[in-house]
Amino acid sequence: MKILAVSDKEDTKFQDYILKNIEALKHVDFVLSCGDLSKNYLEFVVDSVRKPFFFVEGNHPTGNKERDLTNYYFDKVVDKFYNNEKHFSFGGINLHSRVEVFKDYILVGFEGCMRYNPGEHQYTEKEMARFVRKVSKKIRIRQIKDSLFARKKKKIIVVSHAPILGVHDKGDVCHSGYKCFRKFLARFNPEVWFHGHVHFEGQQSEQISRVGETTVINVYGVHSVEIVNGKIKTVSNAKLMKGLLNKTA
Ligand SMILES: [Fe+2]
Repeated sequence: MKILAVSDKEDTKFQDYILKNIEALKHVDFVLSCGDLSKNYLEFVVDSVRKPFFFVEGNHPTGNKERDLTNYYFDKVVDKFYNNEKHFSFGGINLHSRVEVFKDYILVGFEGCMRYNPGEHQYTEKEMARFVRKVSKKIRIRQIKDSLFARKKKKIIVVSHAPILGVHDKGDVCHSGYKCFRKFLARFNPEVWFHGHVHFEGQQSEQISRVGETTVINVYGVHSVEIVNGKIKTVSNAKLMKGLLNKTA
């Protein structure tokens, strides 16, 4: 399973990479966004890769602005690789508070972050816990059905904007993590948990942690993730150019 994840930061190096290596992207199974990216950027990525797209909104929503038809990268990629045929395939599946099945995986999502002002997509711990309970119930129903019909047990992938309490979070209210995420992780042991919202700069090029059986990835920029027999290989931002995407699984 190959996943292309984007979040928070528009990466022009990645856009250049796509223009030069579009063939490499055909091995991607799906694209996901953890939020806080412009509609133009997302549309460029999704229309380049042309694979299923799952997303959650951040606290800076994608918005409904008219797509900028002069987007340099978008026009380049459709002119170069798709005979100028524009698909405008921004449409994807909003995972917030939902459970979606994709191949052998259950995908779930939680939008927004801890409430710090009256803005959109902000939730108190109590409000987020309600979404977590709703999703947990849906997962249990699916798991019971799978076991009743002797179907293969599906692994779980989580896409959130905010971090988990104590994992990549920060001390201020806006960037603090949710306790209910931590409980969800302990209960369901997701294979991978993607989040955004927490920006890091300087020497640090990536932020990936192992919590119990879960690999937690702060996407901030671009990550390609390959899961083969339960083993997870990740390639992030700067290293992407030499990355995993162009190798077949
Ligand atoms: Fe954010």
